[in-house]
Amino acid sequence: MPAPAATTAAATDRATGPVLEVDHVSVRFGSQQVLRDISLSIGAAETVVILGESGCGKTVLLKTLIGLVRPSAGEIRFEGKSLSRLTDRQVAGVRTRYGFVFQGAALFDSLSIFDNIAFPLREHTRIPESQVVEIVDDLLAEVGLPRSAAAKKPVELSGGMRKRAGLARALALEPPVVLYDEPTTGLDPIMSDVINELILRVSHRGGVTSVVVTHDMNTARKVADRIIMLYPLFRLAPTDSQIVFEGTPAELDRCRDPRIRQFVEGRAGNRLTELRDEQERAATTAQEPTADGRGAGASGDES
Ligand SMILES: Nc1ncnc2c1ncn2[C@@H]1O[C@H](COP(=O)(O)OP(=O)(O)OP(=O)(O)O)[C@@H](O)[C@H]1O
Ligand SMILES: [Mg+2]
Repeated sequence: MPAPAATTAAATDRATGPVLEVDHVSVRFGSQQVLRDISLSIGAAETVVILGESGCGKTVLLKTLIGLVRPSAGEIRFEGKSLSRLTDRQVAGVRTRYGFVFQGAALFDSLSIFDNIAFPLREHTRIPESQVVEIVDDLLAEVGLPRSAAAKKPVELSGGMRKRAGLARALALEPPVVLYDEPTTGLDPIMSDVINELILRVSHRGGVTSVVVTHDMNTARKVADRIIMLYPLFRLAPTDSQIVFEGTPAELDRCRDPRIRQFVEGRAGNRLTELRDEQERAATTAQEPTADGRGAGASGDES
């Protein structure tokens, strides 16, 4: 039987409207600004890859998406609801709708792999234990872990197995949104591709929305519908956008901006000199001259 027109329109809006909106978000920690005026909108079932060099704020952006870091300006909306208008309890409720695959698997060291994967089910649902066992079994199979891994502690697994266990735990509550922080870092190319395949499989299953933070261009090319590249603020002029690229993987390959080519081609350029200069600047500001005139300030280098 066809649904009434109004119901159909509302359902369509929900299905096609953005799942996540980042609206002019800035984040600072004390005097350090990490994100400046970031805006982006992520649609249902879309896979957005966030690229950018170490320290540019990728993890902070992911944490802001789930309300673990509060923006100093702007707002995050999940399914149209502003996180800043929700109580802590409501934000915690929203967080159960996300799967978060942390940078490093962030498993509980003292728990077995089984208990790690079962954790969200036991914490957030009343599913009977017999069913929890079935779900964990299915999740192990889904990420390609043997049943024998279930009884082991994280320390007894390889890095690739830990990443897959982290993914299984993130998928336990069948979240509509999965966030991945550096899912392939530290893995060999074959294991990295296994993880890329899993990300694709999860995103194709039931229209899961995915946000993938990575340095890995293979991951970006393989899984992204859209790529966003962030740039570290300290290397930008105050009026420059921190999002230096937004487009498809093919558009990224065609982009001639030297900042993007340097990252995509993995060239250090003059980064080594820049890093040394940054460290020297930091050391000079950190070391105030002492009362007896010693310390960096005593070097006489005022520049
Ligand atoms: N809780 C915090 N308190 C203070 N500073 C923080 C905090 N979290 C992150 N930062 C700072 O924010 C900046 C960006 O950190 P972030 O972890 O987002 O970088 P990243 O792009 O994920 O880097 P990487 O690729 O190395 O993981 C860094 O300078 C970091 O020191
Ligand atoms: Mg990070």
